[in-house]
Amino acid sequence: MFKAMSITDLSTGKPVSLSVPIVQELALQDPHIVPEKYVASEQDRPSLLLPTCESDSVPVIDMSILHDNPKELEKIALAAQEWGFFQVVNHGIPGSLMERMRSVVKSFFQLPLEEKLKYEMQNNQGYGQAFVASEEQRLDWADILFLFTLPVESRDMKLWPTTPANFRETMQDYAFETKILAEKLLSVLAQGLGIRPSCFVESFGELCAAVRMNYYPPCPRPDLVLGLSPHSDASGITILLQDDKCPWVALQVRKGGEWVSIPSIPDALVINIGDHLEVISNGRYKSVEHRAVTSTNKERTSIATFYNPHNKMEVRPVPELLDDYHPCLYRKTTVFEYAMHYLSDKLEGKKSIDFLKIHENN
Ligand code: OGA
Ligand code: NI
Repeated sequence: MFKAMSITDLSTGKPVSLSVPIVQELALQDPHIVPEKYVASEQDRPSLLLPTCESDSVPVIDMSILHDNPKELEKIALAAQEWGFFQVVNHGIPGSLMERMRSVVKSFFQLPLEEKLKYEMQNNQGYGQAFVASEEQRLDWADILFLFTLPVESRDMKLWPTTPANFRETMQDYAFETKILAEKLLSVLAQGLGIRPSCFVESFGELCAAVRMNYYPPCPRPDLVLGLSPHSDASGITILLQDDKCPWVALQVRKGGEWVSIPSIPDALVINIGDHLEVISNGRYKSVEHRAVTSTNKERTSIATFYNPHNKMEVRPVPELLDDYHPCLYRKTTVFEYAMHYLSDKLEGKKSIDFLKIHENN
């Protein structure tokens, strides 16, 4: 049912990305030039004219009042339906841990190249870039460090940096704390649809997590280049820690055909619905396209934690949301099968989830 993988590792049969230059090095070598491969096609180039109107911005949810205030529950459910994105404050992750996390990730990307290359990407984990399916593909202006964090057995410790010295410990603490938040969000989001709070948590099973740390170097032509191509996340739910030292707004979400910026709010986390939760909620919650743009004079780091259903779980709409008036809209899949499809080509909009949709005549 999944299309043929474009590039596979012959020993594992898994899709792997082609290796590409480290953008941080390119930007250092010639700070005035954008190599041709990084120039986005005309229709994909970021417009620098974005709506800034306050009323059209991603909702901010105060998690400390969710229990007592039905309006806040309504607000989070509406945000997940209409935007697929919201920000949370009073979410329970200590500010000091968020700060430590930002700091170790920034320090890692500042290491000399040969040190970072000790963790070079293997089978889609490690330092480098992912989703490069062909030599002709336009490239994103970013380097990444991608690691599986939960369950503990999924970790490939040889790809976990040992410098800075507190990298591993911080990553571990952050993975556990954000897991608690992810579970809480899943139960609140189920409640927001009027179903049992544990409904989504049960269909996820033991949560699996991966962290994608993005480093966007300064770019001489932010108008021509994408930091991260438009995509929806192949996750259940994503928790994004933005750079708090960034004077410009880099993350954008698609809303009604427009790109709307998501500002970095101190102490807030950005939450977005991933493809699996769109499926599990039978399309009630939306996994929405987003992208990141770059800036001329400032680098940026961001940390996306993807919480997924357990690899062995079948991902399908929960029966509680299906009836005669709400037919099942998605084929069942597994996280593993879906990841193979998602990884087998360049990042592009909602290509993978469209593939799972059951069409009228099926
Ligand atoms: C991601 C992502 C946005 C950002 O890593 O999936 O959407 O602001 N990141 O870097
Ligand atoms: Ni994303």
